[in-house]
Parts: sequence; C-alpha cells; structure tokens
Amino acid sequence: MQIRPFRPADESAVVALWQACGLTRPWNDPHRDIARKLTEQPELFLVGEADGRLVASAMIGFDGHRGWVYYLAVAPACQGRGYGRMLMARAEALLIERGCPKINLQVREGNDAVMAFYAKLGYGRDAAVSLGKRLIPDQ
Ligand SMILES: CC(C)(COP(=O)(O)OP(=O)(O)OC[C@H]1O[C@@H](n2cnc3c(N)ncnc32)[C@H](O)[C@@H]1OP(=O)(O)O)[C@@H](O)C(=O)NCCC(=O)NCCS
Repeated sequence: MQIRPFRPADESAVVALWQACGLTRPWNDPHRDIARKLTEQPELFLVGEADGRLVASAMIGFDGHRGWVYYLAVAPACQGRGYGRMLMARAEALLIERGCPKINLQVREGNDAVMAFYAKLGYGRDAAVSLGKRLIPDQ
C-alpha cells in the first residue's frame, strides 16, 4: 500500500470507505468533516492506495499537546494485510516529527473488535473519561 496525503479528487472514495467501515454517523457530515480537515494540517490527512484503488484512510492532527487520529479505516476486503498497522506507524512518525509526545484516540462504544488491533500496536486505556460538546451542528 502506498500512503499519501488526501487529494480533493479522493473525496467520494473516502466517504464510501468510511461508510463501508461503519464509521459514519448521522450527526457527522463526512463531507463537512473533510472540508474542515483541509483547513487544518491537511498534510496529516492520509489515504492508502493499493492496486490503483483507495483502500485506507487516517485523519491525524496535533493540537500542540496531544496527537489525535480519527477515521482510521481499511476497506473490508483489504483488512488483515497490515495496512492498518502501516497507517498508524506513519501517523506516529508524523506526530513524533512535530514533537508530539502522545497519541490519543477514541473508540466508539460497541466497537470491541478494534480494541485487539490497538492493543497489538501498544495502545492502552487511559484513566480518563471522554467528554464532548457539539459546537457546530452538521444537520
Ligand atoms: C481497525 C482496522 C483499521 C485494522 O486494519 P487492518 O489493516 O485490518 O489491521 P492490520 O492488518 O494492520 O492488523 C494489525 C494487527 O492487529 C491485529 N488485528 C487487526 N484487527 C483485529 C481484530 N479485529 N481482532 C484481533 N486482532 C486484530 C492483526 O491480526 C495484526 O496483528 P499482527 O500484526 O500481530 O499480525 C480495520 O479493521 C478497520 O478499518 N475497521 C473498521 C473501522 C474502524 O473500526 N476503525 C477504527 C476506529 S477507532
């Protein structure tokens, strides 16, 4: 898999990938999520290509204190080939380059399958509760 930054022409393939991977939610407009990311560290929005097809994504950001990863996705037909591990390794390298000391990420309740993946990559549960407040509704 070749990893490169997102290009605008990737948009429909990326949204289809997120839908196929069960990452979209009615309250998050994926097109708006992409547009917002393109205004902040767009070089940290990565996609993976294999056999000429877009098969993976990761939306990474450094907020000055922690690094975050969202929308980590590998197309169902391509899972289990090490692509998810490759993308996370690239995310870590890009964050370390920027002096970021720690990655945080959120796993939605019920997405138990992904916990074993992150455990293999050295991620553990933090003693913290995730709180959130919507500032701009997408609907
Ligand atoms: C999570 C996801 C990105 C993993 O991608 P992937 O390319 O299949 O993962 P890899 O092949 O790189 O796996 C890396 C390691 O994790 C293990 N692993 C991956 N998925 C696993 C699972 N469901 N259960 C147990 N182990 C798993 C692999 O066996 C592999 O172990 P190894 O390196 O010791 O052989 C992919 O399953 C996915 O897109 N899931 C749906 C979207 C999602 O939930 N994203 C995360 C949101 S927080």
